[in-house]
Amino acid sequence: MTKYNYADSRRLPADASPLAGHYYTDPAILQEEVEKIFQSMWTCAGREDEIPEPGDYITRQIGNANVIIVRGEDRKVRAFYNNCRHRGTRICSEPSGRVKGSFQCPYHAWTYGLDGQLIGAPHMAEVENFDKSKFPLAGVGCDVWAGHIFFNLDPNRKPLWEQLEKMPKIMERFNLGDLRRAGRHAYDIKANWKLIVENYSECYHCPLIHPQLNRVTNYLNGGNDAMGANFNGGFQIIGDQFSTLTVKGKKTRPYFKGITKDDQKRVYYYVIYPNLLLSVHPDYLMTHTLWPKEPGVTYVVCEWHFDPEVMKRSDFDPSDAVGFWDMTNKQDWHVCEISQLGVASKGYIPGPFTHQEELLYEFDRFVLDRLAGRTNRKPALAS
Ligand code: FES
Ligand SMILES: [Fe+2]
Repeated sequence: MTKYNYADSRRLPADASPLAGHYYTDPAILQEEVEKIFQSMWTCAGREDEIPEPGDYITRQIGNANVIIVRGEDRKVRAFYNNCRHRGTRICSEPSGRVKGSFQCPYHAWTYGLDGQLIGAPHMAEVENFDKSKFPLAGVGCDVWAGHIFFNLDPNRKPLWEQLEKMPKIMERFNLGDLRRAGRHAYDIKANWKLIVENYSECYHCPLIHPQLNRVTNYLNGGNDAMGANFNGGFQIIGDQFSTLTVKGKKTRPYFKGITKDDQKRVYYYVIYPNLLLSVHPDYLMTHTLWPKEPGVTYVVCEWHFDPEVMKRSDFDPSDAVGFWDMTNKQDWHVCEISQLGVASKGYIPGPFTHQEELLYEFDRFVLDRLAGRTNRKPALAS
């Protein structure tokens, strides 16, 4: 097996440095990020198996936009603005639910099919030339890759596959679309969303912050193997005496079908910009989706996904993976929160990056380019 060592990387320019403090604290910067990143790209809403049946829906809030994502009678997943076409009222107030064939606005009872078409509008027949077909819910882009639902508010959007670039090819052998969720934790973190991405993108902090994680995957054993315009990431190597990332470091489930010998000893960590963190273990998938609420507050949903065949076993127990990562997540959220306090302070002067932090440099360039309006950047560092 090839040996990798993050410390061998020497690709960062000597003056590479973190972002200035206002990028983490200024409401105007967050507003710009919402408009130019989250509302202009394909943003991950979560997993398709959260809405398995027709009428199952979820809602997602990004900036001032609230979106309904629903499975139709034809089983297709669609997304709409959560606004009534009469006087704009929010139709669904719950984060998820199930409706029987239609959505009804709670104000004056305009009713919409699961495909968004207006099917009922009391007393509107009395209005001259009123044509129901002209007032469907406003649709937004919606597509699914590997079980992940994405939505896109940009009317001039390009297809999802263009944004994902090589990522579907890189992940193909894992068949992530087949997996089903067996664990979920949600966290409100008092830190800017970028600090959470940046923290995810390096393991320089692992020896100090994550002794349990660092025992199983040593922070220096791994490499960054993927950098694209809209994603970046790499892998870490599982230590000889361990087989996956769990409390004991021992696997209690079979490996994913179809993975390579190398994959059996690796955990892959990819940031799919802007808000999906994909952590692929030899026997389970962990995902985080990030939802900025305020410059210093981010809502994070972490979920664990397994092979449905394995989930049927009587001895299936996801708690070794869920417990290990819930502990590790909380260790991370703590450093993100004290980092937020630091970068928000007058005393913050950005220092130099180590070479182990090259993915942060790439991510920061991505954010700066989007804010500057250059959306078709190439990664600065060779992958
Ligand atoms: S605002 Fe929805 S029916 Fe009037
Ligand atoms: Fe961490």
